Amino acid sequence: MSQEEKDMTLKGRSFLTLKDFTAEEIDYLLDLAAELKKKKKAGIIGETMKGKNVALIFEKPSTRTRCAFTIGCIDEGAHPEYLGKDDIQLGHKESVEDTARVLGRMFDAIEFRGFKHENVEKLAKYSGVPVWNGLTDDYHPTQILADFLTLKEHFGHLKGLKLVFVGDGRNNMANSLMIGSAKMGVNFTIIAPKVLWPKEDLVELCKEYTKETGSEIVITEDIKAVEGADAIYTDVWCSMGEEDKASERVALLKPYQVNKAMMDMTGKDTTIFLHCLPAVKGNEVTEDVFESPNSLVFDEAENRLHSIKAVMVATLGNI
Ligand code: CP
Ligand code: NVA
Repeated sequence: MSQEEKDMTLKGRSFLTLKDFTAEEIDYLLDLAAELKKKKKAGIIGETMKGKNVALIFEKPSTRTRCAFTIGCIDEGAHPEYLGKDDIQLGHKESVEDTARVLGRMFDAIEFRGFKHENVEKLAKYSGVPVWNGLTDDYHPTQILADFLTLKEHFGHLKGLKLVFVGDGRNNMANSLMIGSAKMGVNFTIIAPKVLWPKEDLVELCKEYTKETGSEIVITEDIKAVEGADAIYTDVWCSMGEEDKASERVALLKPYQVNKAMMDMTGKDTTIFLHCLPAVKGNEVTEDVFESPNSLVFDEAENRLHSIKAVMVATLGNI
């Protein structure tokens, strides 16, 4: 596929989950993110989104995602408008469908971070402009682009790597890493207690994807499955909106903490540690692993900017 054809396929599209994108398209976004990163480091000001207005809807709090969308817009000439949970009536005094149609008349694109995944789908269906998922209860697709960019920068490739997610194996991060890994040929293991395994239909769908890429998906309760891992990934034990489950999760997930003993169980001293952040140190990861030279969490955090900018530029920008 030529560069021009790839650009054409992404222009005007929404970015709701990686299910909707081919491996070539994901690769294209990762290459574009790397290119935009170089451009930013060289101090080159872009204007691929000049004159565009972008709505940033946040029902849930955010540091990285909000800042990446805001700075990404400004770096490429667009105007970002932050709409927090108390600023608009989304789904309360006004239906999501109506807000979508209003915003679609005024804005050129919409980012949504919130609870129900069906709301980001409704925004995409009714607004008529590209909608980008900045995290829902079920998926966090822009995070995967940052994670995979970090893996590519570190290992030089994605295919054949062993990525192990330890912890809440049915949260938005585990779901999205599984989809992305299956699509990109990364061998993916989830280590979690059975009650926190991902939904069977999503696992089956991802196994379908692996028929094309040959990657392996393993779901297990056994922490010994970290053996041979190129990267160990974890996330908070209670996602936003699940705060009432805190004590139950601590009891359930204590044996799944990423600590020095678990890093040693990989049998490699080159295994890297990844986390989408924010982290609750002392729960899902110990301070020493978080601060170790093998921890690439701040490269990942920086890469949120370049990869989110790539999604916006590819779907909305003039390139
Ligand atoms: N990783 C991530 O999405 O961080 P924020 O919640 O700070 O946006
Ligand atoms: N699973 C976490 C991810 C935060 C980036 C949450 O949804 O709170």
